[in-house]
Amino acid sequence: MEDLLARSQVPQTPLLSHVTAGTGAAGGRAVRDEAQGSQEPMNGIVIRNGLASDAVAIARLLGDLGYPSELASIPKRLESLAADGRTVVFVAEQSGDVVGLATGQAFSAIHVDGEGVWLTSVVADPRVRRRGVGRDLVAAVEGWALARGCSRISVVTGLHRADAHSFYERLGYALAGRHYKKSLAPEA
Ligand SMILES: CC(C)(COP(=O)(O)OP(=O)(O)OC[C@H]1O[C@@H](n2cnc3c(N)ncnc32)[C@H](O)[C@@H]1OP(=O)(O)O)[C@@H](O)C(=O)NCCC(=O)NCCS
Repeated sequence: MEDLLARSQVPQTPLLSHVTAGTGAAGGRAVRDEAQGSQEPMNGIVIRNGLASDAVAIARLLGDLGYPSELASIPKRLESLAADGRTVVFVAEQSGDVVGLATGQAFSAIHVDGEGVWLTSVVADPRVRRRGVGRDLVAAVEGWALARGCSRISVVTGLHRADAHSFYERLGYALAGRHYKKSLAPEA
């Protein structure tokens, strides 16, 4: 499958917003800023923008998250997210392997000024959990949000994700409501 996405066939430049995140409350000690060079990560984890060439790893991580995805869909999704200009996709890299994923999606609303950010698709490879990958990814999205001038960030997490609940609470997130959903697709 890797052959389908041979490096020569996919863009090597970041498809998504440039990273300026990674300071202050957001931490993000390992965020790589292409314009300023890499920072030496303290824990061996480098956070960088997701690329089409990461598609194999991203598809695997989405599967770990419970959203099995066709490999061929990933570059298209990255491209579409990049085009909206309000989304960032970060991956975590450790020893050259992509071991984590998180996205941030900024949105506007009528009831408040400014943008808020949804934290979405946060996942660490099961083989490297509890080593700071999730924390660094969330810090990178928070840093990106702050750099855009957003001071509100929210995440929706399934009731069954007990690990994620502990994780977000450890990172300072507070339970703030209920999440309802409904399918609008016609019934078969
Ligand atoms: C949730 C998830 C992303 C956490 O990633 P991670 O890399 O293992 O988390 P970290 O190592 O960065 O942990 C950060 C903090 O949260 C705590 N934490 C992480 N997982 C925890 C768990 N299962 N129970 C209790 N605390 C936990 C860590 O101990 C750490 O706190 P510390 O710094 O005080 O030690 C990971 O477990 C995962 O991918 N889960 C499956 C997908 C998922 O549910 N994603 C969330 C979707 S909304």
